[in-house]
Amino acid sequence: MNHSQAQFNSQPESTNRIIRIFDTTLRDGEQSPGATLRPEQKIVLARQLAKLGVDIIEPGFPVSSPGEFAAVQQISRELQGVEIVGFARAIKGDIDAAVRSTMDAARRRLHLFISSSDIHLDFQLKKSREEVLEIARQMVAYGKQFVDEIEFSPMDASRTGRDFVIEMVEAVIAEGATVINLPDTLGYALPEEYGNLFRTVRAGARGADKVQFSAHCHNDLGLAVANSLAAIQAGANQVEVTINGIGERAGNCSLEELVMAIETRKSAIGAETGIVMSEIYETSRMVSRTMNFPIAYNKPIVGRNAFQHESGIHQDGLLKNRNTYEIMDPEAMGIPRSMIVLGKHSGRHAIKHRLADFGIELTDDQLLDVYNRFKEKADEMKIVPDDVLVRLASESTATQHDPYTLIDLQVLAGTQRSRIASVTIRERDSQEERTLTGTGTGPLEAVIHCLQQAIPVSAEFEDLEIHSLSTGEDAHGEANVSIVYNNQRYTGTAVHNDIILAAAQAYVGACNQMLMSIQDTDSEENTEQLA
Ligand code: KIV
Ligand code: ZN
Repeated sequence: MNHSQAQFNSQPESTNRIIRIFDTTLRDGEQSPGATLRPEQKIVLARQLAKLGVDIIEPGFPVSSPGEFAAVQQISRELQGVEIVGFARAIKGDIDAAVRSTMDAARRRLHLFISSSDIHLDFQLKKSREEVLEIARQMVAYGKQFVDEIEFSPMDASRTGRDFVIEMVEAVIAEGATVINLPDTLGYALPEEYGNLFRTVRAGARGADKVQFSAHCHNDLGLAVANSLAAIQAGANQVEVTINGIGERAGNCSLEELVMAIETRKSAIGAETGIVMSEIYETSRMVSRTMNFPIAYNKPIVGRNAFQHESGIHQDGLLKNRNTYEIMDPEAMGIPRSMIVLGKHSGRHAIKHRLADFGIELTDDQLLDVYNRFKEKADEMKIVPDDVLVRLASESTATQHDPYTLIDLQVLAGTQRSRIASVTIRERDSQEERTLTGTGTGPLEAVIHCLQQAIPVSAEFEDLEIHSLSTGEDAHGEANVSIVYNNQRYTGTAVHNDIILAAAQAYVGACNQMLMSIQDTDSEENTEQLA
């Protein structure tokens, strides 16, 4: 064990508690504005959640629509290795739908909720505490006739008087509830308060020692992960989370952030999960794409910048030893490693290192020349993508490194007919220029179709993201394209005030990156496979 690890690993791992991961991306996550899923999309995502190793999946709200019912039913039939939850208000019709839709699951649970805070009772339910208590009792007893595992949630528990939470929890345990979830529905609690809620209820409610406790945190104050950790430390052994922290308003506790906090600090926390780390990134990308929900660049774990370092001092440290400025290994989470982002703070060492990744060796003079021109580019672009760097190196060495160069692009847009594009591409080895045309339902699709013919690589087009970098009529846009070849992801980035051109350059950049890295590892064998 090295010095930095020793600092954190003071406890043998065998004493760690196992925390069960209850994924509600497809239920609470889907309540995120604009993130609605079709039933078949839910099924595909549920398969990925199972691959990720979550313990429990809440696939939807069965009573809400026939499509939702069918999705929960199919997921119950198909995913026999995961516990499936039927979600229901404390209403017979909801419970019946939840029970029927999960009938074929190998392991299932009924999740019932009713509000407990005075503000919800007075203004929303317009019922007294006694009435709500009675409904909770009766509905748990009703559900228990059909399902053994019953989770009960007093909604808005963190804003409910402690005595009433205890009274309600005692009542539902007496009727057969087996899991008590204490939601911080509005993301209002502070970590210490939320932890104390669990301590108080676990100590005060009769029967609490026979049930499991669960945390369910929303992120309105950015405290969902901290609050979930506080609950774990106060005895909760289940956490309810969503991928990318997606969910109502500011979202729910993010699975990847919580799991990585537990994983990275497992000795300090004394807990671990069964999540398959290598599936984290893929799951995050899939949820983002399917729900049309972009991930903030600086989002912990899965954001584009989460493992990228721009400061020259940090880059220098990283090149000497990764642990100097990284606490997690992105590759263990399936995140492509490109830890160094080249920008105006980068030094010559980092540039040399990055070019060497593409098999480009420079003399000291050439390096100085690239460096000087790189600095100008960095002022203009903020981040200098790999394909731009390689182009700078080509200019210094008078050797063209990019396998393909985009020479010209034209697009005909409109409203009625297919969009038409034409691109001219030069191939490095033959120096041949070829012009191809293509059509698409939009101008970008037409351009990508041309480029796919012009650069015949058998990579799968994975994603295109476009962001505006400024405002006004001449705003610059940034395009990021990712392609996948042999399970490996390659990305290209370009900035231009013509966003279609930026997307085309980014696509060519991604193909070049892929071709150069393949050439580097095994040139002959791979050229055959590519055409
Ligand atoms: O936020 C919440 O209170 C919920 C419950 C209904 C579990 O999503
Ligand atoms: Zn919620």
